[in-house]
Amino acid sequence: MRLPYAEPYKIKMVEQLYPSTRTHRETWIREAKYNLFNLKSEQVFIDLLTDSGTGAMSDRQWSAMMLGDESYAGASSYYLLKEKIREILGFDYFLPTHQGRAAENVLFSVLVSEGDLIPGNTHFDTTRGHIEFRKAKAIDCTIDEAFNTSLDHPFKGNVDIRKLEQVFQENSVEKIPFVIITLTCNSSGGQPVSMQNLKEIHRVVKKHGALLFYDAARFAENAYFIKTREKGYRDKTIKEIVREMFSFADGMTMSSKKDAIVNMGGFIGLRDEKIFREATTFNILFEGFITYGGMSGRDMNALAQGLDEGTEFNYLDSRIKQVAYLGERLKEFGIPVQEPFGGHAIFVDVKRFLVNVPLEQFPAQTLAVELYLEAGVRSAEIGILMADRDPITRENRFPEMEFLRLAIPRRVYTRNHMDLVAVAMKNISDRREKLTRGLRIVWEAPILRHFTVELEPVD
Ligand code: F0G
Repeated sequence: MRLPYAEPYKIKMVEQLYPSTRTHRETWIREAKYNLFNLKSEQVFIDLLTDSGTGAMSDRQWSAMMLGDESYAGASSYYLLKEKIREILGFDYFLPTHQGRAAENVLFSVLVSEGDLIPGNTHFDTTRGHIEFRKAKAIDCTIDEAFNTSLDHPFKGNVDIRKLEQVFQENSVEKIPFVIITLTCNSSGGQPVSMQNLKEIHRVVKKHGALLFYDAARFAENAYFIKTREKGYRDKTIKEIVREMFSFADGMTMSSKKDAIVNMGGFIGLRDEKIFREATTFNILFEGFITYGGMSGRDMNALAQGLDEGTEFNYLDSRIKQVAYLGERLKEFGIPVQEPFGGHAIFVDVKRFLVNVPLEQFPAQTLAVELYLEAGVRSAEIGILMADRDPITRENRFPEMEFLRLAIPRRVYTRNHMDLVAVAMKNISDRREKLTRGLRIVWEAPILRHFTVELEPVD
């Protein structure tokens, strides 16, 4: 019999969780204005809001922290991290930032001007936010297959090369400073981009004289999918695949809170000295001096170690199989999810699940509230709320997909936790036909509204 996968680590320290009753949760979610970001963590039993900054660091990371050098300038921790970034990702220039969106802010301050177009696969919300904040436009060139959740395609994060070519053909290249590729593509379901596609994107971008950047938050999970799904990569190590992926990029922004398994941190990687110099000024302005940029020395040490561990095959294999395990359980219960399963999360296709809640009443958010009430599980809406209003017309944007995301923190939960989540979803599924009323907005911010929105049930 084939042995099942098992985590390549054991547990040395545990953290208390807080079970609760439905009555408690009804009060808490009302007080939270039906926005799960407003819940206190003790009001949550299993927290699948995000895989960002919520992972468990290893004993080696914790011990590396003790060797952190907290010098303002020239800290050894900075040089350790710089060397690790050069070794794993191949960038000679790097700037630390406090997290991924800060890296976007610094880099885009150099490269994005009003009226620019920034094509890519589906941009993450902070990436799009930083583009639109500068009165530029994010253009989604993802393949159409990505938006059909029941269609099997190994690389649903891929860019449609024809769509990308068209953007270059219809606009002058001065308006397109760079293309940004999100690895894996979070918004379409943690879906990977193939090496072949990266090569083709690189060819198009270079033909037109633009730059290619990666939003690399989950680059290692992307490399795992290349190894396991793309022809010619089975016998390569994750680190070899990563080096090849990044050989096509002029630079990257990184949220280290994902695949580098730290609780806080980010960075920019660059090849070009001129861009590095310009970005340095903004880094000092927004983040801090170039050898710490918003990070403590100890955190840079933990990050250097995390980059190594996060690009190990055995770790990635158990991580991605745990996500797939939850996906399989949900499928057994007939719950429609994005397939194939993504790297960091299972995405429930809410349009196919809560069919009786009108789109105007935010069905994915409605399902997030139901799941919390059912079992104290916190998830995230990736749908109409998150899509914000159109910056010009101020109308709600209705994205192609209405998802509920169950993001799995790295090295944190057990298979029993996954089983509980799956059964909670099944219980909701059993009564889903009767769920007909959603939520309405009471208050919202002009941009990135889902973080702070206040809602109430439609009566
Ligand atoms: N890019 C991607 C693809 C992301 O998923 C995120 C964050 C960021 C950039 C921004 O990084 O949070 O360090 O500032 N995603 C988190 C999530 C918040 O829940 O998916 P950050």
